[in-house]
Amino acid sequence: MHREDFGILNTGIIYFDNGATTLKPKVLAETVSDYYNNYSSNAHRGDYAMSLKASEKYEETRSLVKDLINASESDEIAFTSGTTDSLNKIIFGYFRYHLKKGDEVLLTKSEHASNLLPWFELADELDLNIKYIELNDSHEVTIDNVKKAITDKTKVISIAHITNVVGDVRPIKDIIKLAHEQNILVVVDGAQSIPHLRIDVQDLDVDFLTFSAHKMCGPTGVGVIYGKKQLLNEIKPIIFGGGMNADFNHDGERVYKMMPDLLEAGTPNIAGVIGFAAVIKYLLNIGFDNIHDYELELKKYLISRLKENPNIIIYNENSQSGIVTINYDGIFPQDLSIYLDKYGICTRAGSHCAKILKDEIKIKNTCRISLYFYNSKEEIDKLIEVLQNPNIKEEII
Ligand code: ALA
Repeated sequence: MHREDFGILNTGIIYFDNGATTLKPKVLAETVSDYYNNYSSNAHRGDYAMSLKASEKYEETRSLVKDLINASESDEIAFTSGTTDSLNKIIFGYFRYHLKKGDEVLLTKSEHASNLLPWFELADELDLNIKYIELNDSHEVTIDNVKKAITDKTKVISIAHITNVVGDVRPIKDIIKLAHEQNILVVVDGAQSIPHLRIDVQDLDVDFLTFSAHKMCGPTGVGVIYGKKQLLNEIKPIIFGGGMNADFNHDGERVYKMMPDLLEAGTPNIAGVIGFAAVIKYLLNIGFDNIHDYELELKKYLISRLKENPNIIIYNENSQSGIVTINYDGIFPQDLSIYLDKYGICTRAGSHCAKILKDEIKIKNTCRISLYFYNSKEEIDKLIEVLQNPNIKEEII
């Protein structure tokens, strides 16, 4: 769908690395270039028309993000540099001050590094206990396993909505309901879900949600923190400087601003945030339900075609997302990815920043095919044709 909007696709490249970052529609570059060429100025800092326009456009994006995820107020949205930055700001700005020695943090072994390492750091600092929700045979989180993992010491569950390697869609609404019944807060890493699904934070009742613009046709260097207002009222900044302070004096007395300015110290990625608005409108116009349905159809087709080849091992056949993780028997995944690149097919190989997932899937490295709405069945056919080459191993060696 909408392939004509993506200039890179004219080169014939087959882009199957959408879990890492997506391609960008022309409207993004046009919007960013309009800002740089016509009103390049700082936001929230100038009393002249150009700067006011930049501020207005910047805030328009905040309002679009609010509508996109159905937050109740724009002040519940802060811009960051990406999901990693968002998670760090939540973990070190909120949980550092709300957890204490012996408290338990529930995670899973299929989380991305950005939802593990900050927790490991905080656990060392505060003497917290990290625990993992057991995954089922398909490497998924079940509500029963969440129940089993919760103890009276559990204070927070921090999980991806969709994981970046196994691509499983977690039952986050049920998990959040269960957690809240026991006064447990829930942080959701939406990096792999917001680009593909319609999300309603009020319906989910999620406490904190994070995601990145670049995985949904937007610019790199722009991310989002959503937090419930009452929680954000208690968050502390971990970056200090201009834009987040209301006043300070030579004695070091200082007054900081409220959310969202509090978490947006320094000149932000103004061009990126403004560009993000253009792609949110673009995606809304296509429709998230259309995107999701089409991706599932493509994924089903991809699985059925991969199964024609007995050398292919598929790790997540049943997941309800556009992420398919494979290996080719006897070929090291990086070698496979480099081989596919010879045919202009872009995939990602390795551990995909989910370095403890190997405990679950019993293999460290895989090759990931991650789909988005501009991929096509013809591209999948080309991938299958390349993988069918009877001399593939000889050609790789
Ligand atoms: N988190 C990104 C991925 O899964 C980079 O590839």
